[in-house]
Amino acid sequence: MIETSGVSKTYHNGFTAVRELNLHVNEGDIFGFLGPNGAGKTTTIRMLDGLLAPTTGTIRIAGMDVTAQSTEVKKIIGVVPESHGYYYWMTAREYLQYFDALFHPEKSDSKYIDLLLERVGLADKHNVSVGQFSRGMKQRLGIAKALINHPKIIFLDEPTLGLDPKGQKEIQDLLRGLNENEGLTIFITSHMLKDIEVLCNRVCIIKDGLMIEQGSIRELQDRYMDTYTILLQSSDNLRAVKLLKDAEHLPQVSLCEERIEITCPSHLNAEGILAVKHRVATALFSEGLDILELSHKSLSMEDVFFKAIERGEKKAVSA
Ligand SMILES: Nc1ncnc2c1ncn2[C@@H]1O[C@H](COP(=O)(O)OP(=O)(O)OP(=O)(O)O)[C@@H](O)[C@H]1O
Ligand SMILES: [Mg+2]
Repeated sequence: MIETSGVSKTYHNGFTAVRELNLHVNEGDIFGFLGPNGAGKTTTIRMLDGLLAPTTGTIRIAGMDVTAQSTEVKKIIGVVPESHGYYYWMTAREYLQYFDALFHPEKSDSKYIDLLLERVGLADKHNVSVGQFSRGMKQRLGIAKALINHPKIIFLDEPTLGLDPKGQKEIQDLLRGLNENEGLTIFITSHMLKDIEVLCNRVCIIKDGLMIEQGSIRELQDRYMDTYTILLQSSDNLRAVKLLKDAEHLPQVSLCEERIEITCPSHLNAEGILAVKHRVATALFSEGLDILELSHKSLSMEDVFFKAIERGEKKAVSA
């Protein structure tokens, strides 16, 4: 859905904010674009939206060149920018009508506006002026505005910034629904790593304008996981720990609250780990203990983010 090739941006003052970016976003992805402050996220999203011309490189959206076919591209994208220019005196409905008229000057689609207000949870507030809206309500109205032209992809720059946990969850649920029910492709930047973890299937991490990682969350979790920890819950955890340590001679076994953690030696591959799990299960069953849970620890998006940034810094130093 989005392919960029060698995209860089150097501002007029000579500062290069984005360097040689090769992004790959599939149709139907909820793609998270992460990076510390000043990493180049807004610069990139503005180039993808066609608001800022890249200094070098090409950007294709749905096969179309963003620079050469900008009018066509604008028809299939929706944008929720970092800061909105709201018209505070307008009601929510008037605000959407105003943007609808820009896209369809010949006839307004009032049914679709009703549907959008419903979809973003503002149907009962359609007659309230935007000046009276909370930050979360404004953000949801901004999403409705981005959907006015029935886009195939929407770009959101920090959509949950400054929202309380309830407001964050409303935006997450709304975006997930749009992706699952309408097949909308979503490109989102966020500092809220929890947002990214619960929403996105694929992510890119950038720092100082350079891409550090790109892939599915699962791939990145596996890439940065230096130790594999099995999580186990049995019908008698104390007996299970003793059994695994004494009879099975597994050294790295410990009881953490109601779970047993077994840290696998780092040289083990996937087969070796499976063999340990098998040994654990057999030992417990043979002693008549039930297994309530047998899973493994995975890295949070926050762990992945900080490890990736650290690795990026090391690379920069050694380069
Ligand atoms: N118009 C401009 N002229 C010169 N430099 C700019 C301009 N706009 C942004 N920059 C610089 O480019 C870098 C990237 O900025 P950008 O806004 O893209 O980062 P960001 O990742 O969105 O940051 P944040 O998380 O704070 O929103 C920063 O160092 C910023 O100061
Ligand atoms: Mg930004």
